[in-house]
Amino acid sequence: MNLSKAVVVFALVAGVALVGWTWLGSGRKAPVGAGSVPGTAGLLRPDDAALVAKGREIYAKACANCHGANLEGQAGWRTSRGLAPAHDESGHTWHHPDTLLLRIVREGTVQMGGTMPAFKGLLTEEEMLAVMSFIKSRWPRRIREAHDAINARAANGSG
Ligand code: HEC
Repeated sequence: MNLSKAVVVFALVAGVALVGWTWLGSGRKAPVGAGSVPGTAGLLRPDDAALVAKGREIYAKACANCHGANLEGQAGWRTSRGLAPAHDESGHTWHHPDTLLLRIVREGTVQMGGTMPAFKGLLTEEEMLAVMSFIKSRWPRRIREAHDAINARAANGSG
């Protein structure tokens, strides 16, 4: 291959790569909130101090007797079914997107064979949002970021 041919081939390859890259880039939208400040993705508002304060009160009254005053869960929850799990970073709560968390609080798990009571009619939607926002506010930064990413994946229809 002589030099001018090589230049043409190189230009073609580079051109195709550039077009492909641009096309892929435009089609692949960045997940909402990925890599951003914790709490910016999803419905929960763990940085909203007033909402979190309200959620703390609701948690103490409505959730702490089962899930523990410090979100630690009922003693033995890891090994015995039917016990309320921890809501802190050691639990599974943060693996669920906001929509599912709020649905569990609203509808409970009795109809799915569980023992979590439904709070629909006992708490307003705003109060359910407040209590879950309080719970999220207690997670360390890296867990909050991981949870933001779970929300972003769920919002993109792949979570
Ligand atoms: C009577 C005890 C009880 C009370 C009160 C209770 N829970 Fe639960 N909760 C459970 C149990 C037990 C589970 C585990 C799910 C199951 O057994 O089906 C659970 C599960 C959950 C989950 C899912 C956690 C996961 O890892 O998937 C969330 C979220 C939750 N509870 C939030 C709350 C909130 C918020 C309140 C207060 C408004 C509350 N719960 C009050 C017993 C309770």
